[in-house]
Amino acid sequence: MALKSLDPVFAHPSESEFAQILDFYGVDWEYEPRSFPTEWDGERVIEMFTPDFYLPQMDLYIELTTLKQSLVTKKNRKLRRIRELNPDINIRLLYRRDFHRLLAKFGFGPLASSETPMLESVMFGTGQIAERTAALGREISVDYADKKPILVGVLRGVFCFMADLMRQVSVPMAVDFMSISHYENDDLGVRITKDLDVDLGGRHVLIVEDIVDTGMTLNFLIDYLQAKNPASVEVCTLLDKRARRLTDTNLKYVGFEIADEFVVGYGLDYMEEYRNLPFIGILRPDAGEAANGAQK
Ligand code: IMP
Repeated sequence: MALKSLDPVFAHPSESEFAQILDFYGVDWEYEPRSFPTEWDGERVIEMFTPDFYLPQMDLYIELTTLKQSLVTKKNRKLRRIRELNPDINIRLLYRRDFHRLLAKFGFGPLASSETPMLESVMFGTGQIAERTAALGREISVDYADKKPILVGVLRGVFCFMADLMRQVSVPMAVDFMSISHYENDDLGVRITKDLDVDLGGRHVLIVEDIVDTGMTLNFLIDYLQAKNPASVEVCTLLDKRARRLTDTNLKYVGFEIADEFVVGYGLDYMEEYRNLPFIGILRPDAGEAANGAQK
């Protein structure tokens, strides 16, 4: 969102649309925050260039261009000049076609009808997920110093979170994955389709989950893993949909508590789609009708 307190007055509607997209993604932005001198007459600056946006999280300046090719060429020349004069600056020209494609992803613009995804909004942006995951990793590293924990993930939704979380754990650890499936027409029945490869006897087990919803899957897993005589079993989940909980399960580490909404992205799917979104988004209600029945 805008880092300045007042919403800026945009020079062009495309800039306002671009700002909305950045907000949707949870990306911070500043509008025209800085002017770069490009030409001098002696000491006097006679020409400046002001890029449209600065994205501090990416340390990137963006100039939008939805204009004629002749103007694009002129802008490109200016950008090259800025790069020559300020080699440490990241600056990019976003062309009309890039811009339309980006708009379409969010349901705006000329390509929209063919490319609109079934998403309502972003719940947690890439930066928020990374920040929270790093904090969880720090807590786990403190709690499990000298314990050499084994992180156990349940495929497939957890693979993004596990990959990021384990790289934030700074103490020796191991990782393994299981795969389960739910029996059809039976919400409570769970079957293991891939078991762990390591022996858990005497080990400190940390179950890593993408999302805990009713808690039934986790309940089953904890019982199953306890039977292998580990030293301890605890749970770390990125998302906790507590409002839907049917079981009384203690979650030691929780990334975010969320309301009863069906979410996708960052490994989470709706009928195997959307796992590749870099953020966690809320599925549009019309897409979500069938979602409550979706399983891993
Ligand atoms: P539980 O047994 O009801 O806690 O369900 C856990 C599993 O259901 C998760 O590991 C997910 O695979 C799936 N699930 C529950 N809610 C969502 C959601 O909002 N988006 C995607 N998958 C979900």
